[in-house]
Amino acid sequence: MTVIINMRDGIDERKIRVAARFILEGKLVAFPTETVYGLGADALNEEAVRRIFEAKGRPADNPLIIHIADFSDLKKLASEVPKEAKLLAEEFWPGPLTFVLPRKEEVPLVTTGGLDTVAVRMPSHPIALSLIRASTPIAAPSANISGKPSPTLAEHVIDDFYGKIEAIIDGGETRIGVESTVIDLSSEKPTLLRPGGLPLEEIERVIGPVEIHPAVRGKLIDVARAPGMKYRHYSPNAQVIVVEGRRERVRAKIEELVREYRSKSYRVGVMATEEFEADEFFHLGRSEEEVARNLFKALRELDRRGVDVIIAEGVEEKGLGFAVMNRLRKAAGYRIVWA
Ligand code: TXA
Ligand code: MG
Repeated sequence: MTVIINMRDGIDERKIRVAARFILEGKLVAFPTETVYGLGADALNEEAVRRIFEAKGRPADNPLIIHIADFSDLKKLASEVPKEAKLLAEEFWPGPLTFVLPRKEEVPLVTTGGLDTVAVRMPSHPIALSLIRASTPIAAPSANISGKPSPTLAEHVIDDFYGKIEAIIDGGETRIGVESTVIDLSSEKPTLLRPGGLPLEEIERVIGPVEIHPAVRGKLIDVARAPGMKYRHYSPNAQVIVVEGRRERVRAKIEELVREYRSKSYRVGVMATEEFEADEFFHLGRSEEEVARNLFKALRELDRRGVDVIIAEGVEEKGLGFAVMNRLRKAAGYRIVWA
């Protein structure tokens, strides 16, 4: 049975204690963070962490992020905390930024997918922070079945996990909508492993130039340091096609594709920053922030409305747009049409 814990109207410490007890008993609790919902378990309890992998259908070599609520917890998980981590934590924690650091032995290999490094972040959502404080550091991947779009609403988590986990805390819609930025600080040069909710430009402002792992940009994908990159990701059931290129040509290209697929009797959905005629349409909003917040919801929603093809408007690859385009291209299996 799955308990739905309603905290849409704010934190209720009694309910937090119930959820914290589940975590300490080795059970699975989905909870909101400022990025997306996480599927949480006690990070140091091997059995509990194994259950996360089972529930998601996640390959055992794809490591999890450990969520903490106090900077001092970092020293219990990482054997070394370089100065870049201190500087960045000072600026951006709690927030949508994850560090990959050398692992302390206490952290089970199950949690790190067998790696000698550990990923850690301090989320800023008050429910996440309270839950961690009332329990223990929590390992939590995004709370979606492996390969599906990440959840930004409790309803998404219910769709994927109702009946399979102990509890789902409903904290309403997540504010940022794309997952945290992941940066590897375990080798000489800081390296971006996943663009995310904290723009790369912000990170570089604090620690200077950051390398971008080659797998971030391409589908060239079997790299020990970027284990999460080699799997199918963010995919709805419909085939996604991303239209990129010069803005003034993108509109015409999307309209052309809608006509083409409709003439083949496909039900066509469009997700974009302006209005379009199609069988189904999802407005992503106009600002970078809105597009990021709506992205996963749009993919899930168009799927629910039963379209065969989703045509998605590409956005500029700066700020949050870097994370958005990374997710969109993956969702499309790199099926990109240039306008
Ligand atoms: O915003 C987020 O990060 C959300 C919320 C719930 O906090 N979590 C999340 O977790 O997105 P997940 O498991 O869906 O993505 C974690 C990413 C994966 O790409 C994984 O491969 C990478 O972090 N990762 C974790 N540990 C790593 C490690 N030791 N080395 C390299 N990459 C690692
Ligand atoms: Mg995920």
